[in-house]
Amino acid sequence: MEEFRKRVEEATRFVRAPMKISPKMGLILGTGLGGIVEAMEETTVIPYEEIPHFPRSTVASHAGCLVSGVWGEQRVLAMQGRFHLYEGYSPLEISFPIRVMQTLGIDTLFISNAAGGLNPNFKGGELMLITDHINFTGQNPLLGPNVDDWGDRFPDMTAPYCRILQQKAIHGALDLGMTLQRGVYVGVPGPSMETAAETRFLRNMGADAVGMSTIMEVITAAHAGMKVLGISAISNVNLPDRYLPAPLKEVIATAEKAGKNMALLLEHILPKLP
Ligand code: HPA
Repeated sequence: MEEFRKRVEEATRFVRAPMKISPKMGLILGTGLGGIVEAMEETTVIPYEEIPHFPRSTVASHAGCLVSGVWGEQRVLAMQGRFHLYEGYSPLEISFPIRVMQTLGIDTLFISNAAGGLNPNFKGGELMLITDHINFTGQNPLLGPNVDDWGDRFPDMTAPYCRILQQKAIHGALDLGMTLQRGVYVGVPGPSMETAAETRFLRNMGADAVGMSTIMEVITAAHAGMKVLGISAISNVNLPDRYLPAPLKEVIATAEKAGKNMALLLEHILPKLP
């Protein structure tokens, strides 16, 4: 763990040096949210592969960059491109960028993702505010020795998603006349999609949407004491009794459509946060 901590500190020094601002908010941007980076000013772009010890993107087409800058009244650091368990990254590797954010002094984190709807009231293309989650990955980024300077051995998980930020999102969606569903996100490792029986099980377990990201990052952020806002783009709806395949092309197209609304909502609430 000492070695990991040193690597985080080295990466943080490298990232901090060229930045024109000191970021307070982190953004993990999924598909369709590139426009947010374009709206930022005083930007500094750092490709992941240049940062010492940073995880590398496995897919060549998904280069991955850290972008810092000013967005409205907010100093932000955005991750374009993220790391998933199904790519073979360990939970610790996935936590690395969050630890860099923590060391930089970031105290608020926005996380977006694409997810399959399990709640039959949801429609593809809608947004879901994540009110809580179920870690069904069998993994945890905090396994191993605890770094006490980073957080508690047994971090509280009674409210990992900040209630104040949730309220801002709900009011923002009302202002914009936009549907914002609310629900529980269950995280699975993937990469195989769920069977009909698993879909029924996850729904009965209490989840409204299922996805293959987010959980490792949110647990790390909770440990770090960050305020988290999470929003899912519902890319497909899985109903066990009339279960249809969700082809990747459709999943991406629907997530991008939802991404437009997500960008509008974020632009409405985040740049103005105190
Ligand atoms: N299952 C798991 N992950 C997903 C899905 C799904 O149906 N859609 C988008 N990410």
